[in-house]
Amino acid sequence: MTGLSECYNFADFERAARRRLPRPLFDYIAGGADDEATLRANIDAFNRYILSPRYAVGVGEIDLSAHVLGCDLKWPMLLAPTGMNRMFHPDGELAVAQEASRHGIGFTLSTMATSSIEDIAAAVSGPKIFQLYLMADEAMNFETIARCKTSGYNAICVTIDTIAAGNRERDLRSGLTVPPKLQTSSLVSFLSRPGWCLRYLSGGSFSLPNVAAGESGDISTLATFFARKMEKNITWDKIGKLAAHWNGPFAIKGIQCAEDALKAAEAGATAVIVSNHGGRQLDGADATINLVADIVDRVGGKVEVIADGGFRRGSHIVKAMAMGATACMTGRPYLFGLGAFGRPGVARVLDLLHEEVGRTMNLIGCRSIADLDRSFIKRADIWPEFLKDTGSVNQSDEPDPKRIKIISDGLTQP
Ligand code: GLV
Repeated sequence: MTGLSECYNFADFERAARRRLPRPLFDYIAGGADDEATLRANIDAFNRYILSPRYAVGVGEIDLSAHVLGCDLKWPMLLAPTGMNRMFHPDGELAVAQEASRHGIGFTLSTMATSSIEDIAAAVSGPKIFQLYLMADEAMNFETIARCKTSGYNAICVTIDTIAAGNRERDLRSGLTVPPKLQTSSLVSFLSRPGWCLRYLSGGSFSLPNVAAGESGDISTLATFFARKMEKNITWDKIGKLAAHWNGPFAIKGIQCAEDALKAAEAGATAVIVSNHGGRQLDGADATINLVADIVDRVGGKVEVIADGGFRRGSHIVKAMAMGATACMTGRPYLFGLGAFGRPGVARVLDLLHEEVGRTMNLIGCRSIADLDRSFIKRADIWPEFLKDTGSVNQSDEPDPKRIKIISDGLTQP
């Protein structure tokens, strides 16, 4: 079985998590909606953009620092809000938040977290953002915002793409329940992961302390309570009221076009988080990285643009920053690290990503995140000028299969 020191990249951590977590839990993290086309596209689309390095520029010390939502980051990463972390490993959100802080990056606590707003605030000195799912009862939203204020959170992030639950067929098949219950269908997958079972049984019970202050009950009762009370009719007007009430750095997560980014800015957002929820909500939506440049060009002067979805490599982060993103956000990499190895897994995922960002910057010849711009990237599917000039070439942006044949014929026939 792959040990922690043998994990060098996302695929290694994913494999390690698959071997250590019961299948329903692994699938809950790994899966997306419907055919998972958007989930795959988020990752694959990074290959459409090619890095264009400059050499012999005497790079020297590289400055990876960034500033977003009023927070100073050592490198441009925010950990995405993800629910129920203690279900994957008892180290849970607390370890994730502390590792984010130790690595000089931001942590976003989910409404559905298994640690409270207050416990995280008490244990974490680094940048902290609270992710709010809107409840139909406005008073509950204001009450949560008040808890964040009292606890000293740096920013609020409201998620707007969950007006309906995404169709996650892996979860339907696995019969995932929260907390996990042994059912005949999943018995084998749980019993075949004795390490997880031991940790889970000795980890104590857990709850959703941010879902409903004052409510008690087990986690499934709370999750059901929460789902029933969630706001299904989210409007810019309601979001604007919350932004005004918070009166501080405010992000809106789930933006996929410049028009909505503009509305977010008008509603009082400091930042938009360009996101399709990791492909877990609307399948068939475009990959995040394909949306970033247009949103930056049309609304970047009014709001910060955070890119969320598909980040698996430091080079992906560099590409998004070169397009003009203010920071990047990622979820699955640290969840696989946590699920497979607990806190040390999260630490190593962040170490590797951080190193990769620095190495990529060095190799493209760029001294600082502030110096990154679009001259460092090209689109992979645009033909170079010297090929466009030849009369028979299709001049569109898309590769022409006929043209590919002409080139390969030319290469093989002297
Ligand atoms: C929650 O936000 C999820 O995607 O499961």
